[in-house]
Formats: sequence, structure tokens, C-alpha cells
Amino acid sequence: MIGELQFFVVRRSLLREGDEFMLADILELQTEKGTVYIEGPAPGEYLESLSMNQQLNNFRPAGKQKEALINISKIPQGMIYIARHQKEIIGYVTFHQPDEYTRWSKHPRILEMGGIEISPEWRKYKIGLNLLKVAFSAKPLEDFIVITMEYAWHWDLRSSGLDVWKYQKMLTGMFSRAGLSKVSTDDPDILEHPCNVLMAKIGPGVSKQDILLFESMRFMSKYGEAVQI
Ligand SMILES: CC(C)(COP(=O)(O)OP(=O)(O)OC[C@H]1O[C@@H](n2cnc3c(N)ncnc32)[C@H](O)[C@@H]1OP(=O)(O)O)[C@@H](O)C(=O)NCCC(=O)NCCS
Repeated sequence: MIGELQFFVVRRSLLREGDEFMLADILELQTEKGTVYIEGPAPGEYLESLSMNQQLNNFRPAGKQKEALINISKIPQGMIYIARHQKEIIGYVTFHQPDEYTRWSKHPRILEMGGIEISPEWRKYKIGLNLLKVAFSAKPLEDFIVITMEYAWHWDLRSSGLDVWKYQKMLTGMFSRAGLSKVSTDDPDILEHPCNVLMAKIGPGVSKQDILLFESMRFMSKYGEAVQI
């Protein structure tokens, strides 16, 4: 089911959420810095019990980012997958309904992958790649078209040493290994920068009707499909 994971153990477990228990996917990844657990969907109470790596500040300061993760885990269809070392969150990926101002929020089966971040001290151990693979092969996403809108201004060019095109290539390569494909669109947020890119993965449980609706939403300007990226 999950390619490129032959060295790791995948198991299903129960994470506690209040008086309820949630089924979660857990994967053990051995790195030279120790064992990393990739797990989710992580309930808010569980996230609260963990510390946050202080270098997880690509999008906002680490403390605020932890609050955001907890909040997302509590909203309808919000989901967080994390990479954990001991009791510390060292990476995460978020899923939630698209922002209301976007066209994609009008679609009943679209979820947005909001952001993925691995702490700089844990990068290049394939944690990001495996986090995506675990999340995208998990049951909860099967009935959704998951999109990600990759904006160049969110990328950590400084620590990566990559230029914006190489960074885009690195990200799209990583996402395509988790099953996402590039999708052309005239969404103005994507057209705003030549490196921005929309990617999507259509889950096996998505109906033909919902796929057609998604197709019809890709080009909505008056010039229709004349605008290609
Ligand atoms: C992008 C990011 C999540 C990658 O996480 P990671 O755990 O370091 O990535 P992985 O180790 O799983 O690497 C996946 C692939 O990308 C390549 N890669 C990752 N970082 C790279 C870099 N700086 N330069 C060149 N290649 C890189 C890896 O070599 C690997 O490819 P390979 O299997 O062919 O060797 C991480 O750099 C990050 O958090 N960046 C800041 C936030 C961000 O840009 N998020 C994406 C937009 S939402």
C-alpha cells in the first residue's frame, strides 16, 4: 500500500480523545537521530500533551503553530498528521476545508492540504515524504479530492539553499510521490506567481459527478481554458 516504506513498521493504534478513542495510523521511521513516529489523524487533546519543536516556525511562531494545529484538529473535516520524536512534534501536515473566499470551498468533496513543515534540524531524513505517504494512503482521505495550493512565498528558500524553481521541483516531486498531480487552473492565487502550483489527488471513493464538478471549476474566468499554466 505505501511504497518506499519497506524498512518501517506500520501499525494501527488508538489515540485517546476525551472519552473517545480514534483509530490512527502510526509508522516508525528509524533515523540517525532516533526513532520518529508518523501518526494521525491526531486528536487535539493528544497534540496538547506533546511539546512543539521551537524551530517549527516557517508559517508562524512555533507556539502559535501548535495552537493552529489543535484548532484544525477540532474543526469539521480538519485533520493533522504529525512526525513525533519522543514527546516532541517535529513535523506536521494539515488538512482542512478550503478557505471560504476560494472557488474550491464551493465543492462538497474538496479538502485542502494546508501546509507541511518539518523542523530544519530534522530535514532530509525522508520524514516529509513519509508523512505525506502515510496521510495520503489513510482511510479518511479516500472520499476526498485533496488539493494543495503551493505558493512560492511560503517556501523556506533560505535554509534549503535552493532557488525558487528548484524548490518547486523538490516539492512537486515529493507530492507526486504521495500520489498528487499538477493541475492547471486560472485560480488567481495560483496565477499570481509563475512558480505557484495547484496539485490534487482524487481519492478512490470520489464519485464521477464530483470529479466532473472539480474539472468544471478549474477554469472559471471569462477566457476559460485559454489560460493555461
Ligand atoms: C519541504 C519539506 C517539508 C521537506 O521535508 P523533508 O523531511 O526535509 O523532506 P524529505 O527528507 O522527505 O525529502 C523528500 C525529497 O526531497 C528532497 N529534498 C528535500 N529537501 C531538499 C533540499 N533542501 N534540497 C534538495 N532536495 C531536497 C530529498 O532529497 C528527497 O528526495 P530523494 O528521495 O530523491 O532524495 C521541508 O523542507 C520544510 O518543512 N520546508 C519548509 C516548509 C515548506 O516549504 N513547506 C512546503 C509548502 S507548504
